Amino acid sequence: MIDAVLPTYNRAPIAFERGEGAWAIATDGTRYLDLGAGIAVNALGHANPDLVAALTEQAGRIWHVSNLYQIPQQQRLAEMLVDKTFADTVFVTNSGTEAAELAIKMVRHYWSDRGQPERIEILTFEGAFHGRSTGAIAAAGSEKMVKSFGPLMPGFRTLPWGDMEALKAAMSDRTAAVMFEPVQGEGGIRPMADADMRAIRAMCDQTGALMVLDEVQCGMGRTGRLFAHEWAGVTPDIMMVAKGIGGGFPLGAVLATEAAAAGMVAGTHGSTYGGNPLACAVGSRVMEIIAEDGFLAEVNRKGALLRQKLEGLVAAHPEVFEGVRGSGLMLGLKCRVAPAELVKAGYAEHILTVPAADDVVRLLPPLNITDEEIGEAVARLDRAAGRLA
Ligand SMILES: Cc1ncc(COP(=O)(O)O)c(C=O)c1O
Repeated sequence: MIDAVLPTYNRAPIAFERGEGAWAIATDGTRYLDLGAGIAVNALGHANPDLVAALTEQAGRIWHVSNLYQIPQQQRLAEMLVDKTFADTVFVTNSGTEAAELAIKMVRHYWSDRGQPERIEILTFEGAFHGRSTGAIAAAGSEKMVKSFGPLMPGFRTLPWGDMEALKAAMSDRTAAVMFEPVQGEGGIRPMADADMRAIRAMCDQTGALMVLDEVQCGMGRTGRLFAHEWAGVTPDIMMVAKGIGGGFPLGAVLATEAAAAGMVAGTHGSTYGGNPLACAVGSRVMEIIAEDGFLAEVNRKGALLRQKLEGLVAAHPEVFEGVRGSGLMLGLKCRVAPAELVKAGYAEHILTVPAADDVVRLLPPLNITDEEIGEAVARLDRAAGRLA
């Protein structure tokens, strides 16, 4: 008999009832060190007192207001994002998938406005993940995600990951946009080289194609800069954000330049819940904390510390691990065993990690994890690896 919850996930037999910073506490009282952070969502840890205060204070005032009215909390969040990034304007969503959908719509509207409605081809890379809506699975194009859901939305072409020659050959006056994650998350913590990001920007400038970045997983301080593309010194035309920006409350956004968004006038897009006061009160607080002096420097320092310890772990277990990759606190352990096996061994050692494609186990701890917790995490991973030897 089918479960009351549609069984689209293979769930571990653990339920959590509480959280404290980098720790998730199960119903049986077991404390798990959480290096998954809800897949890069709990950016400031569980039950962060500042975020709890922002949420409860707003909850006592007003929860929901339609976008038919002014929403000062949404305005504030949008202005902070505009202030800190390339963007001139922001649409607030509830998730990364919704952000991806709007980004795709914005690209189509842009070319339609320019008298080229047939210019719909968006180039993407293998291993991409943009969500599970019909548009987002068409964009990613992987067999696993699209099987049995055809016919797919047209207009996407998937190229080998990071293959600049293939991209150069594919770019033409039919290319509407190039869309990718600066660091692939689900694809296995695969960073796009800075030089390649700059090359893509140059190709987009030459052909007029828009550069669309998905920073749902790698953004909001995760790589040690507010947004990962900053490392390459380029800016996109459109960017999707979600996960960490809400610190655990459902929140996403599309950021865009004025030129890319100019056609998106009243009536072209909307959302009942997108930009609601609760989500935006929390999101604004997350932004304030990540923007505090020294916060990102600490992410870089802790990222380097974790990486250094993981290199030691890899060296100690060559039969389990092949290497470490990623940047900041978005790190991947390339495994010689099935990633799911390591994740499972981690449960036995009371540490949470997340499997990804390309034989990688992801480590995406809260950005404010302590040095001591980093040491403890690697000790637990060491014991977990020992179980697989
Ligand atoms: C890079 C990227 N884009 C989009 C999404 C979809 O976001 P959501 O699950 O919030 O809809 C995800 C989720 O894992 C993601 O990692």
